[in-house]
Order: sequence, then structure tokens, then C-alpha cells
Amino acid sequence: MKNIIFFSSNNYDKKYFNKANKKFNFKLKFEKKQLNLKTVNLAKNYNHICIFVNDNANDPKIIKSLKNLNIKTIALRCTGFNNVDLNLTKKNNIKVINVKKYSPQSIAEFTVGLILNLNRKIHLSYQYTKNKNFSLENLIGNNIYNKTIGIIGTGQIGYKVIKILKGFDANIIAYDLIESEKIKNLGIKYYNLEEIYKKSDIISLHCPYNKDTHNMINKKSLKLFKKNSMLINTSRGELINTNDIIEAIKNENIGSLGIDVYENEKEFFFKNKFNNIIKDDNLNLLLSYNNVIITGHQAFLTKESLIKISNITLNNISKIILNKKCLDFLNI
Ligand code: NAI
Repeated sequence: MKNIIFFSSNNYDKKYFNKANKKFNFKLKFEKKQLNLKTVNLAKNYNHICIFVNDNANDPKIIKSLKNLNIKTIALRCTGFNNVDLNLTKKNNIKVINVKKYSPQSIAEFTVGLILNLNRKIHLSYQYTKNKNFSLENLIGNNIYNKTIGIIGTGQIGYKVIKILKGFDANIIAYDLIESEKIKNLGIKYYNLEEIYKKSDIISLHCPYNKDTHNMINKKSLKLFKKNSMLINTSRGELINTNDIIEAIKNENIGSLGIDVYENEKEFFFKNKFNNIIKDDNLNLLLSYNNVIITGHQAFLTKESLIKISNITLNNISKIILNKKCLDFLNI
């Protein structure tokens, strides 16, 4: 019962999980390959699988194979769980867990980093000075002070982003399906989505990806955005319709875009593609714009997060083995 195979694992997963495992004594196997139909059989002879954001546990054939291989647990070493079919796994008696809370500060601080970079064009000046160009032409930025910032999704991460941004004396407004007293107590007012789009100079997405939020940023919603506004997405790529955001950038309907996630990231992110021809022309376009920053799903990546994720995941799997209650169960 104590064998775990990791899909999509990186050296840092190996390092931090091996360290955490000193307390738990699992047998860990680190596999670089993503979980998909071709690789699912690698889980043979293991009891539990540990997966990340771009592994596919939505496909019924993959779930059936996992069931046939007698996999007891799918442990997501992340918060988002849009890549797992919770109903089907439940029907097949496979338990699914995630890490609900590890370090929302890590994602929040990174989000604010993207805002500051774009607002003051630090990503451009870094390239200029690296090339010994010390001219200030084209580097005029904006203050965050007094700007209206719309936060969509005021859960753990949205809350932390708001707390940080309050230090800039910005006017922060919010939207969530469920309004939180904790957020209102910070002096934040909730508006409907349309008002958020219309009023905000900067919009940051912190809601989960599901069928309701699929492509919520699209041609129709982008029409409501203020000209020159900034859009930040450190949540999930599928929240934004890529074709529509490219049109909005080309038409100068929005001013800048900061994304740590991308609709079609599965093929590229977490891999070094330096020597490859990128065949995704949307990605090529976005990479070519000076007012766009793309990072490769990095917002969670701090030492603090990795320590928590590894310890919580192994602790949760131990609880499952001992039939103990686990707060991170997703499909019970
Ligand atoms: P959370 O569950 O604490 O908060 C999500 C909030 O979104 C909740 O308040 C919920 O009511 C709200 N929400 C749900 N549906 C909504 C909708 N249709 N419109 C507006 N709000 C809606 O989750 P947390 O921890 O704040 O994470 C948010 C997302 O961030 C995750 O779902 C994940 O996709 C992403 N994430 C990205 C990371 C990265 O490295 N880039 C790392 C961790 C999380």
C-alpha cells in the first residue's frame, strides 16, 4: 500500500518529496512523463499516483485503466482539480485529494509581481539594460496608487492579493459567487462582473476553472474592459479565450496582459522548448508582444510551497491508508 508514482515530476518534486518522505517511508517513483492514455500503464504495481496541473485524469479510459491497475488514490500536488473527473473516480472507488491550502501568499506575491512588472515595464528595462541600452524612451509606466483593481474570486489567493494591494492605496473592488465577510471587513465592495470589467484599471483572476468560468474572458467581456487596462491571470489558462485576448491586444482594447497560465499550456509548460519550433501560433504571437508577460505556471513555486505541498500530500495519503478523515478529500 505504500508505493506512489509521480507523473510530470521535476527535479524539485523529487528533492522536496524525498525530504518529506523521511517521516513517512513511502516507496516513491518519479516519472517525468505526463499522465495520459499512453503513459497510464506506468502506474502498474503502484498503489497511489501523484499528479500535477496538466496530467489528464478526466478521460474515462484513463480512469478505467487506473481502476484496472488497482490505484487507490489520485493525489493532486496542487489546489486546482479541473483535470480530474471527480464523479467517475468516485464511481470507480478511487479517492482524489488535492492540497487545499499550502501557501496562498506565494501565488499572491507573484501576481503582484506581474502587476508591478507590467505597470512599470520592468520586463522591458531588464532587456534594455542587458543590451547596454540605458535610454528611458518607451518606459513610461503608471502608478498603482489610486487605480481601481478588480479581483475576481476572493478565496484564499484573492484575499492575499487584496491584502498586499491595499498597501498601495489602490481602490480595490471584487466579484465572487459568494461574498465574504472577511473581504468586506477589509473595506472591499463587491460588484457584479460587468461592473468589475467596466470600472477596473487592473483585473486579476483568482477563481477556479470549471464549466461556468470556461473562457469567461472573451470577445463579449473584453468589450467592456477599459482601454489600456491590464489583465492578470495566475489561475487557469482556460479562463481566457486566447483568440479573443489576442484580438483585444492587437486592437489596443486592453493595455497589457500578464499570464502565468495559458489555455494550451499542456504541450509547453514545465519543459525547455528553447531548441524547438513552437507550432502554436497564438503562443508565438503572445510571446512577441512587449506588453505581454508570460511565465510558465510558476506562481506557486517557492521553497515554502514545496515544503508544504510535499508534507501535506504524503500525510494525506497516509491518512487514506489508515482510513482516517482527511480534509483534502475531493470526491467523498
Ligand atoms: P479558493 O477555493 O480559496 O478560492 C476560489 C474563489 O473563487 C472562491 O471564493 C469561490 O467562491 C470563487 N469562485 C468560484 N466560482 C466562481 C465564479 N464563477 N466567478 C467568480 N468567483 C468564483 O481557491 P484559491 O486557493 O484561491 O485558488 C484559486 C485558483 O488559483 C485555483 O482554482 C487554481 O486554479 C489557481 N492556482 C494557480 C496556481 C499557480 O501556480 N498559478 C497555484 C495555486 C492555485
